[in-house]
Amino acid sequence: MTPREEIEQLRKELEQHNYNYYVLNQPTISDFDFDQMMYRLQDLEMFYPQFADSNSPTQRVGSDLNQSFKTVAHKYPMLSLSNTYNEQEVRDFYNRVKEGLEGEDFEICAEMKYDGLSISLTYIDGELVQAVTRGDGVKGDDVTANVRTIRSIPLKLREGSGYPREFEIRGEILMPWTSFEKLNEERARREEPLFANPRNAASGTLKSQNSKVVAQRGLDAYLYYLLGDEFQADGYQYENLQEAASWGFKISQGMRKCRTIDEVLDFIDYWDKERKNLPVATDGIVLKVNSFRQQRHLGYTSKSPRWAIAYKFKAERACTRLNEVTYQVGRTGAVTPVANMDPVQLAGTVVKRASLHNADVMNDLDLHIGDMVYVEKGGEIIPKVVGVDKNQRTPDMQKVEFIKTCPECGANLVRYEGEAAHYCPNDSSCPPQIKGRIEHFISRKAMNIDSLGAETIDDYYQRGLIHDISDLYTLTVSDICGTNKNRVKSAQKVVEGVKSSLNVPFERVVFAIGIRFVGETTAKLIARHFQSMDALRHATVLDLMEVDGVGQVIAESVVKFFQDDKNVEIIGKLTAHGLQMSVSEEQKSNQTDRLSGKSIVISGVFQKHSRDEYKAIIEQNGGKNVGSISKKTSFILAGENMGPSKLEKAQSLGVSIVSEEEFLKMI
Ligand code: IVH
Repeated sequence: MTPREEIEQLRKELEQHNYNYYVLNQPTISDFDFDQMMYRLQDLEMFYPQFADSNSPTQRVGSDLNQSFKTVAHKYPMLSLSNTYNEQEVRDFYNRVKEGLEGEDFEICAEMKYDGLSISLTYIDGELVQAVTRGDGVKGDDVTANVRTIRSIPLKLREGSGYPREFEIRGEILMPWTSFEKLNEERARREEPLFANPRNAASGTLKSQNSKVVAQRGLDAYLYYLLGDEFQADGYQYENLQEAASWGFKISQGMRKCRTIDEVLDFIDYWDKERKNLPVATDGIVLKVNSFRQQRHLGYTSKSPRWAIAYKFKAERACTRLNEVTYQVGRTGAVTPVANMDPVQLAGTVVKRASLHNADVMNDLDLHIGDMVYVEKGGEIIPKVVGVDKNQRTPDMQKVEFIKTCPECGANLVRYEGEAAHYCPNDSSCPPQIKGRIEHFISRKAMNIDSLGAETIDDYYQRGLIHDISDLYTLTVSDICGTNKNRVKSAQKVVEGVKSSLNVPFERVVFAIGIRFVGETTAKLIARHFQSMDALRHATVLDLMEVDGVGQVIAESVVKFFQDDKNVEIIGKLTAHGLQMSVSEEQKSNQTDRLSGKSIVISGVFQKHSRDEYKAIIEQNGGKNVGSISKKTSFILAGENMGPSKLEKAQSLGVSIVSEEEFLKMI
């Protein structure tokens, strides 16, 4: 087999496995075997750049390169549908169609209405060539590179399946519930703002400048509409979509042809309940006249087709009494109003609290204590108050006003320009802020002091043992125990845990001190760049922005942190207690120039370290990891399964091959 043939075969097989896994949900090989095939293909492509292909399965991992989106005009405008909200409106639509078709028989194709963002994909000769967002319906953003990373979108259509030479297919990009929850958990951990619902998350992700981010977020896509000059003028929506499924697309679940209005209403009824078991968010049903000929006959209004309509599901809603509005203060000082209500059953759970988000949202609702309020669970996970039944209000009820002072410490609240939230500015002595910062400091990815937890911290704080993170290092067993001798064992553990945190490397200390917007990754970046707390403390906004991955918001936040004398004082104490305030000698001594000036290609599968680790090792030792073999390549770090053709090229160029063991000895 020639390399080119092998590349093509691997691409075909990998794409088939992708399809089995992401579209059919029926994988036929293990993840491990899949990865091996992928590595092999990556190697071959690296080695034979002349066979590069932007639709190769290897391209699904995305790239770090920044992209700004090109605006592209849609060949056919992307229309929206008019909405209906109840059975009568659906019947009206059905009757309008019937009249429009002058008594001719017709079928309705009923589909899920997906709640994501619409996309238009163009295929030529069976290959994805362009993906454009809806935009304003006339023109949208070219997001092809990002869309290529979505595994259920075929980059190449299944051969011999009879697709037209050129066509557009439209559908919805979605973030499945499971990916959405995972993403928000991660963001909560990093104190980044949460996405309100999967649609926002999908949209934020698809607009990301970095396709690698998109590749990691687990987006999915369902397609529902075909367009092109080559489709038969007398075709059908349902049958065309079934065909598209055979070319490799994921299409609407549970699509059905309905012959009567009762069948349509049954379909709506069925999915109103059953949709809760779907992996992605849906907010209604779409009804389309099935025959293209009949669609043309019915035509369009200025905004939407007359042959189709959307029916929107009612969000689940309950009515209950508002008893009190309380306020939560987070570790950053942000104050969130919370409605406390009589418990009520809603979408399978009992709800008694609902977020009111911020002062504006709360004021718009014009809440009074004792009001009967409507609570909904829509696309969002946290229930929200959507309205008030004003008929049930009596004149004696008190209007709810947003508080002016912090419910925890009494400080006057502030509102920063451009922000919706109110903040308690008293970060140095407001209890939930202090405790929140200490909890963050001890957390696993920070100092990892697992002998302490939220309750212990609360206890120590109440007893006046700790006021800030530096106090942890002065805790003694007798302080902790007080008069209670039963506590000795656990107290010893705490003290030991605190002590061993002195070995936690500098980059995690940078994360642990809790600079706003500085998550785990950013902490690593700035720690490696500035090498010591002292250097970081004196860095200017411009210095900080020189670090790859640090933008203005983060840079300003770091500078602001060190402008606060309290923080500087705490860092001084932590330094005195012996925390790692610079990159350790050991880390530095791992840094050598043994590979300085060397260009190294990594190829094959390794036993001792991953490819990424080898890349890091090369860089730590002053070398450069390059993609393809050339005359300038110093050597190839070769694992198992390095292809014969690659060997050949290395030999013909006189590039030496170094095994994993030899390499490790070398450094
Ligand atoms: S068909 C001309 N089918 O809902 C008809 N749309 O306002 C084009 N949507 O913008 C749309 N699921 O983003 C169609 N099964 C489905 C759909 C669907 C969701 C979205 C689409 C469109 C909006 C309609």
